[in-house]
Amino acid sequence: MKGSFPTQAFKDIQTPFYYYDTALLQRTLDAIKEETDKNGNYHLHYAVKANANPKVLQLISRAGFGADCVSGGEISACLAAGFPADKIVYAGVGKSDWEIELGLKHGIAYFNVESLPELEVINELAARARTVARVSFRINPNVGAHTHAHITTGLSENKFGIAMEDMLTVIGRAQQMDHVDFVGLHFHIGSQITEMDDFKALCDRINELQEQLDEHRIEVKNINVGGGLGIDYRHPNEAPIPDFGAYFATYRHHLHLRPGQQLHFELGRAVVGQCGSLITRVLYVKPTAHKQFAIVDAGMTDLIRPALYQAYHRIENLSSDEAEETYDIVGPICESSDVFAKDYALNRCHRGDLIALRSAGAYGEIMASGYNCRALPKGYTTEDCD
Ligand code: LLP
Repeated sequence: MKGSFPTQAFKDIQTPFYYYDTALLQRTLDAIKEETDKNGNYHLHYAVKANANPKVLQLISRAGFGADCVSGGEISACLAAGFPADKIVYAGVGKSDWEIELGLKHGIAYFNVESLPELEVINELAARARTVARVSFRINPNVGAHTHAHITTGLSENKFGIAMEDMLTVIGRAQQMDHVDFVGLHFHIGSQITEMDDFKALCDRINELQEQLDEHRIEVKNINVGGGLGIDYRHPNEAPIPDFGAYFATYRHHLHLRPGQQLHFELGRAVVGQCGSLITRVLYVKPTAHKQFAIVDAGMTDLIRPALYQAYHRIENLSSDEAEETYDIVGPICESSDVFAKDYALNRCHRGDLIALRSAGAYGEIMASGYNCRALPKGYTTEDCD
């Protein structure tokens, strides 16, 4: 089964480009809303790092969700897209002074603080701005996730967050400071997680930490469990919307919230992953003694995930229904790793055929680079193709 695309409109657009199916994005947002509405204290802050295309951001902000940012640039993009500042949270191990000042100026919801030196700088900058910064501590829960090593983040060996054993010390320090207000704890164990048991392990760890905090009578307003819910890269047509029911139920059943506590989520990939495809054209079909290559005009500069993480993206030939043949599908970049797939069965390819690399809505367009002096790919939505 192939996805349905406005291929007629695609003929007039310069390839490669990203195409976003806004109806699917809207259905995905509705599915999340249905779940979060069941629990008045559940709040989604969309992880902007997955995709900051202005049209995508606008749809998400219009749906009423907040944003999780990791840079001053992302904060500015979110404000421009209409996210209210008080729904923006800001994480990152290396926040520059200007980025902290930007967050303070706009009065963002809170900073997810990743070290004691950072806390001290935020306190100083808030004092200078005559304000109080709301801070939440990112705790490294030392919980592994069954996903690619480059995208696990919650292990002690990772650079992220504050060690669990230092949690009480940093909270104590924050309570002594005049220009920070301790409002919560933040966690994130990794990305593209499809086993709910991994999230359950995080819940168990948070329950333990909350017991320690109770003993010290420390009140925590918000628990932020980060993001990480994966998508079905192999079956984008059969599973276009992730199982949000199972995901939120895991937290509902296993996380013991205290009365009045708010639970924050930072999903990125699960929100935008399936609605985006990278559309490219076959430049040449090149037969060799061993195999044949389909050389397309998109490369690792447009979608780096296969080269960087050996990631699988389903590939479809939108222009041909002829019998399948086996191809190595490669881009034009001067790197041997510029390969989208090896030995891949695709409807027989011809020069000029339109090819879709599916499930590319998350960490696709946003990770594009200008290597080889290539132009960045543009992003178009369903409305642009009417
Ligand atoms: N919150 C924090 C603190 C994060 O570090 C991340 C992702 C998220 C939320 C959102 O995670 P998601 O729901 O999207 O899994 N470029 C890689 C993924 C890197 C994820 C980085 N952090 C990829 O293409 O697979």
